[in-house]
Amino acid sequence: MKGNRLKKARKVDAPISDAGHFVHLNRQIPPLAHTSMYLWHKYWSRKTWNVVGEYIKNYCPEGGIVFDPFAGSGITAMEALKNGRRAIVCDLNPIATEITRLTIKPVNEILLYEAFTRVKEKVKRKIENLYLTKCRKCRKEIIFDCAIWKQDACVEIRYQSCPHCGDRQEKDCKLSGYDKDLLQKTEKRKIKEWYPKNPLYYPDGRPFIKKEKYESVAELFTKRNLQALALLMEAIEDEPKKELKDFLIIAFSSMVHLCTRMVPAINPTPGSHQTSFSSTWTQHSYWYASSHMEQNVWNKFDSAINGHQGLLKAKAESNRIFKDVRIATSLKQILSGKADVYIYNGSCLDLMKRLPERSVDYIFTDPPYDASIQFGELSYMWVSWLKMNSNYLKKIVANEIIRNERQQKDFTVYHSLLSSFPSVLQLSGDV
Ligand SMILES: C[S@@+](CC[C@H](N)C(=O)[O-])C[C@H]1O[C@@H](n2cnc3c(N)ncnc32)[C@H](O)[C@@H]1O
Ligand SMILES: [Zn+2]
Repeated sequence: MKGNRLKKARKVDAPISDAGHFVHLNRQIPPLAHTSMYLWHKYWSRKTWNVVGEYIKNYCPEGGIVFDPFAGSGITAMEALKNGRRAIVCDLNPIATEITRLTIKPVNEILLYEAFTRVKEKVKRKIENLYLTKCRKCRKEIIFDCAIWKQDACVEIRYQSCPHCGDRQEKDCKLSGYDKDLLQKTEKRKIKEWYPKNPLYYPDGRPFIKKEKYESVAELFTKRNLQALALLMEAIEDEPKKELKDFLIIAFSSMVHLCTRMVPAINPTPGSHQTSFSSTWTQHSYWYASSHMEQNVWNKFDSAINGHQGLLKAKAESNRIFKDVRIATSLKQILSGKADVYIYNGSCLDLMKRLPERSVDYIFTDPPYDASIQFGELSYMWVSWLKMNSNYLKKIVANEIIRNERQQKDFTVYHSLLSSFPSVLQLSGDV
């Protein structure tokens, strides 16, 4: 595979017409389901992998370089590598480039599981103590899975199965005196561990366009979940092996949004695929759900690592596919053929100024569409928890290509930023 990837021959899978032009892809490409390596971390506007793959095979010669200036979670890079091409991918958002890097970078699954176990031994018990209740049937102390809040009051708890008697509570299970006492204690206790207090405002004092009721990242969480997440992050930060710690941290970000107050309470109708315990961040905003679900943080972290869409399953798949891939540490490395993929975190307009003429064979990209998804603002919660926030907002304001009036970018600004793209890049005309 590696030999093919670096081969100089300009072979593309697309038929070439007598006039020497490509035969364009003009057929429907039925989308295939995403597998775990595409699903372990949420990202907005993720493209369907097999469709991207078909375009790459059709238009980029084997061993050639595919460039994606707005790469998001890295589907273009993954499909290029899978199909024996190389890739230069770029995104302004450090979460996007970290998802890409850690999807591609192999990791020893046993060592990763051991690192998870170290965290588990440190904090599982402490976190679970925040979600104790008494089984409604056998009265034994158990851990609940989620609680339902209406406005600002906790009104219900839910558990899937009591480990002692199998009792299940998925609807209308009111809080007992025991539950209320425990909650009150948590509400009163000061959180000693670090957590992000970052306001949902730009440095010049303007609120995020996607801010609703909550003022800061911390306010997106109940006190109980904030405490649990702060304990979890502290334990992850203790992991001595940097390489493994990076994976645990990104696993944290893959679940932290599911532990906010932004997940609606679900009361599924019979036959629906959802359960009374499932949670998603459904809106493209820091929205205020009048009735929301508070998830057990340990459960969510456990399934972010061990679940069927978890990191270990994703790595079992991606380790196999990307095991020989060489990740470049500089643009020079990829351009000279010494590496297979270069992942750049920063503005594509800056990167493109550094790309020599005719250095890429094919561009596949999916830029932000007007104001529809505010990638920079919405990633701020992850960025804050991952302590990537130094200068983040300044960079977003200066570089993000988006329509967002709070960043002083109306449609004309958005349009002109996007249109500056071809003039920055000296496109090669021969592929
Ligand atoms: C529509 S998304 C790409 C999603 C991607 N196709 C995927 O499958 O995950 C557009 C991306 O452009 C990024 N972006 C916006 N302005 C940028 C800039 N100046 N330079 C690089 N990336 C930028 C955003 O952070 C966002 O991740
Ligand atoms: Zn029981």
